[in-house]
Amino acid sequence: MKLTVLSLVIYTTIIAILINGYNCKIVQFIFGDSLSDVGNNNKLSKSLARASLPWYGIDFGNGMPNGRFTNGRTVADIIGDKMGLPRPPAFLDPSANEEVILENGVNYASGGGGILNETGSYFVQRFCLYKQIELFQGTQYLIRAKIGNKEAGKFFQEARYVVALGSNDFINNYLMPVYSDSWNYSDETFLKYLMQTLREQLTLLHSLGARKLMVFGLGPMGCIPLQRVLSSSGGCQEKTNKLAQMFNTQTSKLVIELSTSLPNAEYKFGDAYDVVNDVITNPNDYGFSNSDSPCCSFGKIRPALTCIPASTLCKDRSKYVFWDEYHPSDAANELIANEMIKKLGFKTINQTDNAAPFPAPAVAPLSEGN
Ligand SMILES: *[C@@H]1O[C@H](CO)[C@@H](O)[C@H](O)[C@H]1NC(C)=O
Ligand SMILES: *[C@@H]1O[C@H](CO)[C@@H](O)[C@H](O)[C@H]1NC(C)=O
Ligand SMILES: *[C@@H]1O[C@H](CO)[C@@H](O)[C@H](O)[C@H]1NC(C)=O
Repeated sequence: MKLTVLSLVIYTTIIAILINGYNCKIVQFIFGDSLSDVGNNNKLSKSLARASLPWYGIDFGNGMPNGRFTNGRTVADIIGDKMGLPRPPAFLDPSANEEVILENGVNYASGGGGILNETGSYFVQRFCLYKQIELFQGTQYLIRAKIGNKEAGKFFQEARYVVALGSNDFINNYLMPVYSDSWNYSDETFLKYLMQTLREQLTLLHSLGARKLMVFGLGPMGCIPLQRVLSSSGGCQEKTNKLAQMFNTQTSKLVIELSTSLPNAEYKFGDAYDVVNDVITNPNDYGFSNSDSPCCSFGKIRPALTCIPASTLCKDRSKYVFWDEYHPSDAANELIANEMIKKLGFKTINQTDNAAPFPAPAVAPLSEGN
């Protein structure tokens, strides 16, 4: 009898340690494109969209390329930091095992990826959103095997989710005549197709446990340097900007609708379109000196698609809105992140509060695998 009580005590203690050790850390799962990639594409050896050469990452850590398509931090880095959440490693980072995932989450973002499977096929290798969700399901399988279904369920419901894609569906699909979507669809029918796909994907994520999810909208993508060189005047492509605004309006509606219709969903939408548009028009008002050309550029031979070792850098990286032909600089990302935070209206997460021990279950959950 004594022995049984003792072993029960030991057993519940072990269970409590296991549960308290893992259960309550809040982490992020990030789904995105090059604006959020932190190294996946660098591990895709055939991908043509990689930030693997200098001067990418020059203002981050040791200054070596780290897979981010900018000189410093991404918008998701900055927002996560301000929420008090750890920065998740890239899915393909070899260090991302179960322990690391339970502490830090995972980032599935991939340069060139889109909401649609066919987007960015030109880059040969990239993870589209459906593929990223498939990889997330693989992660869930690993975590369930590690901590059991019940705790894993809680872990995934408490986690924060970021979904930040869409630019490539326009820039590297609909607006490029080499893609059949550019012939098959009109602005309206393409938007409808995108929204229908995104609705399915956000619903799928909910069915997989996502409850607290942020969707990032698009910026004035007709003003990225790459789009400007397409116009004879060097001005912004208004047609492209219009598409970004239509996308934002419709995605915002979709997110509000899903947040009401899906049980316990707290889905939020945030964009920084207006602020970035204003920065581009009035850079000096925001402490920038240049808002139309990339800081890292290869002389007059444009568009050099990416920043390369032979490129020259602008004198002051904090004064350029764009880092390369596609991507904002760290300084611009900071401004974008601050605007998103205002729109998304979230609170800082206190991991200490959250990790507070909770009572061990009265009945040991014998049915849960460990
Ligand atoms: C999109 O890709 C996923 C796998 O990445 C696949 O399961 C799905 O069937 C594809 N959808 C379409 C419409 O091709
Ligand atoms: C788009 O166009 C291509 C080529 O004309 C065709 O094969 C394909 O089925 C079309 N797709 C859709 C969804 O209409
Ligand atoms: C987090 O919560 C703990 C315990 O309630 C408290 O002591 C600590 O000051 C909080 N930290 C922040 C940053 O709010």
